[in-house]
Amino acid sequence: MKSRFVVEGLAGHKKLRGTIAVKGAKNAALKALAATVLFEDTVPFENLPDIEDVKRMQELLAGLLAPSEVEGPVLKKDIAERLRASIVLTGPTLARYGTVTFPFPGGCVLGERPIDLFLEGFRAMGATVKEQDDLFVISGSSTSLGAGKLRGAKIFFPSVSVTATETLMLAAVLADGQTMLQNAAMEPEIGALIEYLNLCGADIAGAGTPTITINGTGGTLLRAQGRAYITPPDRIETGSFVILAALAGDEVTITDCEPRHVDALLVLMRRAGVTVEVGNNFITIKQGPTLLKSVSVRTHEYPGFPTDLQAPMAVFLTQCQGEATILETIFDGRFRYADDLVRMGATITVMNPHKILIKGPTPLTRKELESPDLRGGLAYLIAATVAEGTSTIDNAYLIDRGYEHIEERLQKLGLNIQREEV
Ligand code: UD1
Repeated sequence: MKSRFVVEGLAGHKKLRGTIAVKGAKNAALKALAATVLFEDTVPFENLPDIEDVKRMQELLAGLLAPSEVEGPVLKKDIAERLRASIVLTGPTLARYGTVTFPFPGGCVLGERPIDLFLEGFRAMGATVKEQDDLFVISGSSTSLGAGKLRGAKIFFPSVSVTATETLMLAAVLADGQTMLQNAAMEPEIGALIEYLNLCGADIAGAGTPTITINGTGGTLLRAQGRAYITPPDRIETGSFVILAALAGDEVTITDCEPRHVDALLVLMRRAGVTVEVGNNFITIKQGPTLLKSVSVRTHEYPGFPTDLQAPMAVFLTQCQGEATILETIFDGRFRYADDLVRMGATITVMNPHKILIKGPTPLTRKELESPDLRGGLAYLIAATVAEGTSTIDNAYLIDRGYEHIEERLQKLGLNIQREEV
């Protein structure tokens, strides 16, 4: 059965009040789940978000547990094709079992999402890549190092990729010798993973910098020994709640978060005139005295403005006075939401596949919407909250992929949002 959200808009009034706690980060949890392949014993998890993508990753892992003797470990095609993060499993699986078979990974439709950086990295570590039908088969070298082993390598990424950094880092943990990843991603989820792996026997340096150095164990598996991986708070959820509170909040406190992970957003919020108070692990947004002012945005790898907050930010800008541009530097085709916001009353010009111009403020009105992707879906919830009248957002499952029981949590702030089976 499919479900959708029904949201009674506040017609621009700022009425939401209370506190909302941030859940564990999807993009951290998925990678830590993939990393469990490197372990000899069970990895306990804390603060794991109860979301669809986590369940899918657990299913993929369960399917890997008993690799077939003939084919070696294979990532289930139907799941991997829907989950971009599935590709991260290829690194530790190849490192442990000497081979891995997987389909081209799926996920949200965000323009081109190639996998060349992964394949080149595996090759640099001595593996061979074969394409059979629509599957990739990667095998470690069978030379003097022993069958199926990876060897450390110096890998320079021509462009920064979060999942390629994670995948090759995990592969390198069990390799022979040292691997150096240059122009690596610096996202805090990677730092959290490194910290945990190092506690369990890995030797990884350079977290939060563009150069990550891994001294491989030569095949010795990691051991959790009862230590739990504690999922860090989701910074995209944090940022989305900040934007929602700035547009529709009287006074809202976002708890259980890491404010410094959303600095790029908070700087722009303050510049736009939002009243932001920051504590150790909370952010309070209060209704400000002034009209919000437009601010232009350019997405960037961490610590820059996250592309995953780009759609919620566009909704924010429809309510600001003036003109602003959003320059999307990471993905093509990430403005699929623009047409729907225009239908709701926004003034948005798509200038090219990477740039839009938003003029505001424009009141938004109710519409029947369909979630375009996971992050876009939350942007639609925010737009529906700001709008006048009752909107519906189909494809609730796309929002459920990344946000845990979102309707129950927003109801507590005073929003009338319901889930309806259709
Ligand atoms: C991850 C996040 C996603 C976020 C994105 C950017 C996960 C599961 N997803 O996605 O939420 O939007 O980072 O912060 O963590 N690229 C190549 N070749 C490759 C791999 C990537 O050219 O082999 C390009 C992509 O097309 C894109 C850019 O690199 O233009 C960044 O992509 P990447 O960081 O890999 O994004 P994901 O890891 O897919």
